[in-house]
Amino acid sequence: MNTQAQTADILSVRKMSKRFDISEPFLNRLIERRPRRVLTAVDEISFDVPRGKTFAVVGESGCGKSTVARLLMGLHAPSAGTIRFEGTDITDMAPGKPPALRRRMQMIFQDPFASLNPRWRVRDIIGEPLKNFGICKTRAEVTREVEKLLTQVGLSAADAKKFPHEFSGGQRQRLSIARALTTRPELLICDEPTSALDVSVQSQILNLMKDLQDEFGMSYIFISHDLAVVWYMADVLAVMYLGKIVEVGPKEQIFDNPQHPYTRLLMETVPKLTVGGIERAPVAGEVPNPISPPSGCTFHPRCPLATETCRTVSPELNVRSDGAQSACHAADEGRLPSWARIAAE
Ligand SMILES: Nc1ncnc2c1ncn2[C@@H]1O[C@H](COP(=O)(O)OP(=O)(O)OP(=O)(O)O)[C@@H](O)[C@H]1O
Ligand code: SF4
Ligand SMILES: [Mg+2]
Repeated sequence: MNTQAQTADILSVRKMSKRFDISEPFLNRLIERRPRRVLTAVDEISFDVPRGKTFAVVGESGCGKSTVARLLMGLHAPSAGTIRFEGTDITDMAPGKPPALRRRMQMIFQDPFASLNPRWRVRDIIGEPLKNFGICKTRAEVTREVEKLLTQVGLSAADAKKFPHEFSGGQRQRLSIARALTTRPELLICDEPTSALDVSVQSQILNLMKDLQDEFGMSYIFISHDLAVVWYMADVLAVMYLGKIVEVGPKEQIFDNPQHPYTRLLMETVPKLTVGGIERAPVAGEVPNPISPPSGCTFHPRCPLATETCRTVSPELNVRSDGAQSACHAADEGRLPSWARIAAE
């Protein structure tokens, strides 16, 4: 139980960036006279995760969603910026240090099989963090807690003696969730947790996650490329494009009145916001190479509203009248067509 005074936002990120040096080895560069190559995966993003709510991040493949998750978990070191968890700066904190703080954040991944040790039985997979973090002192306590966690995620106590390959994809994701819950985290970072699952199983896992959030009051960062899933899960929604947040705000505001042409493009590809079973049109145009991003607004090569200013000046994320924020010159200049009009056409 956290005894510290609670901040309204459980996590606050300011101007966080991640640049990967993807240069060839020094000698090759010297001989071939090639310069260093740097890929900016995350570019000065700032956001707050409200306590007990779901902060969703959506965007096309390669826009930096997983890199954000890995930075928050301390699996990558940020190139710049700060990360505060309940007011404490954890920017340079390696995973597990100090354990008391790190155990309050956990992560679940897209591929539950890859994140579960195939040679371990479930009782060891879930029991390990219980022992390592000193949550359970005796074997009997560990067994009791493992069985309780399995039941909480909709599995049975008897599953403790099985190996991961004995479960279906959906059941394995339940196992990952049970393992993440061992430390009773206050913040759960979920990176595409249902993308690898059959549509019929997707909604079961999403419902389980919602139930657990209600029961334990957890905050979620929920990453997905699927707007229908995001609509179901999010309280606050951030739209990412090429390493930047281009629009962020309460889910209803973003869905009812998107103020960024990229958000509109994403929404136009979802004919109906229902989880699972619907064919979605691919998003038109290609995501530019993040090694040499376009100048100005990086969305300009795909944007029907681009002007010369867009091609040269990067737009700021500005607060608009409805309280959400968007980074678009057309929105700032009142040039965006009304969304209702577009939707009716
Ligand atoms: N360790 C790394 N070294 C070099 N480049 C990386 C590394 N990790 C990610 N990248 C690059 O950073 C960019 C963002 O990748 P990231 O995995 O965060 O995107 P994503 O939004 O999660 O995509 P997806 O939806 O496909 O999972 C990509 O161009 C990717 O190639
Ligand atoms: S800033 Fe310009 S190019 Fe970028 S999304 Fe807005 S209108 Fe389009
Ligand atoms: Mg990813």
